[in-house]
Amino acid sequence: MKQDMIVILDMGSTENTVLARQIRDLGVYSEIHPHDITPEGLKALNNVKGVILNGGENRVVDGVAVDVDPAIYDCGFPVISVDHPTAKCAKQYAELPNDDEMKKFLFEVCQAEANWNMKNFVEDQIEAVRRQVGDKKVLLALSGGVDSSVVAALLLKAIGQQLVCVHVNHGLMRKNESEDVVEVFKNQLNANLVYVDATDRFLGKLENVADPEEKRKIIGGEFIRVFEEEARKLEGIDFLGQGTIYPDIIESGTKTAKMVKSHHNVGGLPEDMQFELVEPLLQLFKDEVRECGIELGLPPHMVYRQPFPGPGLGVRCLGAITRDRLEAVRESDAILREEFAKAGLDKKVWQYFTVVPDFKAVGVRNHERSMGYMVVIRAVNTIDAMTATIERVDYDILEKIADRITAEVPSVNRVCFELTKKPVATIEFE
Ligand code: XMP
Repeated sequence: MKQDMIVILDMGSTENTVLARQIRDLGVYSEIHPHDITPEGLKALNNVKGVILNGGENRVVDGVAVDVDPAIYDCGFPVISVDHPTAKCAKQYAELPNDDEMKKFLFEVCQAEANWNMKNFVEDQIEAVRRQVGDKKVLLALSGGVDSSVVAALLLKAIGQQLVCVHVNHGLMRKNESEDVVEVFKNQLNANLVYVDATDRFLGKLENVADPEEKRKIIGGEFIRVFEEEARKLEGIDFLGQGTIYPDIIESGTKTAKMVKSHHNVGGLPEDMQFELVEPLLQLFKDEVRECGIELGLPPHMVYRQPFPGPGLGVRCLGAITRDRLEAVRESDAILREEFAKAGLDKKVWQYFTVVPDFKAVGVRNHERSMGYMVVIRAVNTIDAMTATIERVDYDILEKIADRITAEVPSVNRVCFELTKKPVATIEFE
């Protein structure tokens, strides 16, 4: 490993990820570990240069007051406390969420080097993957989402044709999305890619199913079944690649988080299919994953893709899915994305999409009364998707989008803009 590391011991603060980000932004790699790490465990980590104790006001984890093993102070690393002074660690560095104080600690006290960057990270991970996998094969479900695409690109660099990617097109992808996965990974990067068009199978299972949770269950379950069928056709696979990222493992801030989440990630695959996991993005925050994707040469539109739910357009074609309304969602979404990109809003708005409700409205087309679908546009901003505000999209842009959708998608005769924040609405309609 090339990078020096600062270890943050989680003593119950909600600010640990902010601290880790601040340190990484100053060029030093940082990881969060549980407060009860043993001195041996701490010493076994690579290139530790210093330790920060952070427990917020109370130093409480899962309702219990905590402290570190006193032997942690004698491991030979500088230890500071950013919450409150203790007998062993008298100085309170309350100003450490401040860069100058942090720099003093990192570079003067700990003598750390600012050597955390994507180039080093990629080189380290390629080496680590090669060591872990040897001459064996790795299977990867390549959805085309940011995390799976970046994992694919990294594994491809590390092990080439030993990586087998499976892309399942469930028929609920956005316009050209599956084609793009094939173009980038198979045609341009020469990946070993199995493309499965399971559109008919998914739409068949979803016929007449209107309940959103039921739709989600069918899509998720069927996805696992298709992936499993493809995996069984392949021979000699020992490893499963996963796009697990850092927030996935530190989400709950407790030491059990990693176990719960990685179990969840493999959940769904049958028990007789035993794979060892390869998770090269485990250390990265989301924006670092994107940076890594750029470092690996992936196209920016793939790396800066907005969040897209697993059930895809299935939860945007409201109620029971029909092919004509699904097409209306897909085409209107493509127009919305095109116009947002032209206006530079794709870089500003967190998530934007269209939905089509399952009823028709009266309209006039070619001087005749006609019934058509209604498209609803949603454009929201959020930090963590728990709450969301509405992007105040310029009226001229909205009008242009409405004109284009009604002109280019003949089944649509109305376009609306959604004004409701989360809460009380959710971001998705289903
Ligand atoms: P809501 O609708 O709950 O959405 O406000 C919050 C964020 O989660 C995404 N979302 C999903 N993502 N599977 C996913 O992978 C799902 O079933 C799902 N439902 C919602 C949504 O797009 C938004 O970013």
